[in-house]
Amino acid sequence: MNTPTSSSPSTPDAVPAPSVAALPLPRIAVLATGGTIAGAAPDATNTSGYQAGVLGVGHLLDAVPALSGVAQVQAEQIASVDSKDMAMPLWTTLAQRINVLQADPSIDGIVVTHGTDTLEETAYLLHLTVKGAKPVVLTAAMRPASALSADGPLNLLNAVTVAASAASRGQGVLVAFNNRIHCARDVVKTSTYAVDAFQSPEVGALGWVQDGRVEFQRSPLRAHTDATGFVIGASWPSVEVVVSYAGASRVAVDALVAAGVRGIVVAGTGNGSIHATIQQALVDAVSQGVAVVRASRVGSGHVMRNGAASDDALGFVSAGSLNPYKARVLLMLALAAGGTGPVALQKAFDTY
Ligand code: SIN
Repeated sequence: MNTPTSSSPSTPDAVPAPSVAALPLPRIAVLATGGTIAGAAPDATNTSGYQAGVLGVGHLLDAVPALSGVAQVQAEQIASVDSKDMAMPLWTTLAQRINVLQADPSIDGIVVTHGTDTLEETAYLLHLTVKGAKPVVLTAAMRPASALSADGPLNLLNAVTVAASAASRGQGVLVAFNNRIHCARDVVKTSTYAVDAFQSPEVGALGWVQDGRVEFQRSPLRAHTDATGFVIGASWPSVEVVVSYAGASRVAVDALVAAGVRGIVVAGTGNGSIHATIQQALVDAVSQGVAVVRASRVGSGHVMRNGAASDDALGFVSAGSLNPYKARVLLMLALAAGGTGPVALQKAFDTY
């Protein structure tokens, strides 16, 4: 058995270890917006018939006493919504609040608790519009706080741990979920019920968090946060998503154009291929000044420009590896920033 020499009576010249002043814990702001992580059901075995967003942020923090060993946490209730009802005014409020906290010298990092249903959209929106290098980490839960084996408390502890880590600075907006750290651009919800519901298809997670340790294995390559020209403003151009499928009609596209949308993202089949009827309606939409972006409903992979449709000839834009919902976020921001025409918009999709 090894005996530490510093405490051994057989080493008369041993010197006491120097006392190291404990560093103050990082100061983390937790912004709560609702979701299943703040959900409650009538009993602990109910994991589907609950109400999301009914518990306040104080309840979420009280469930995780270990937070006090990781960070000095301050909490704000930004909203209490089921994230299926996320809307652009709340995105504006959230992004603006995060930008204020980014500039506040008394805060080191930010955690956002959110519903899982639209988390990937909010995360990407923040990734493109937050300004500053402090970590911004979204987290959520698949089971309500009232459930047996609720996943929210550990996800919250891990999110605060990631936000408190110096390694997370400058990595853009992150999602900490089920021990993994994902890039906001890549992450998508891939299961309606599984606790491991979030994946980054094709590219994988950025890293992991477990038992207080944070490790990144790669960094995002695409421009984000300070490196984008996007700012959160008052205007949200109207952009909608349509889906291509067997026997589809042009009714939805024509109605959207008549309603005055600025952009349409089409969730195409396969490599962004589009039913001929919808494709003709989209060509007509382009001729009326509507931006059309081709994405895929498949769930992973990318859409090749000039692949399944001739984007150059039709005036379309390829979404690349963004799914239709993230493509909608980028199209709104690009249009709001004054981007017009397929060449300028394609540049935005190739950059972000
Ligand atoms: C929501 O998205 O707010 C409800 C579903 C969830 O958080 O898992």
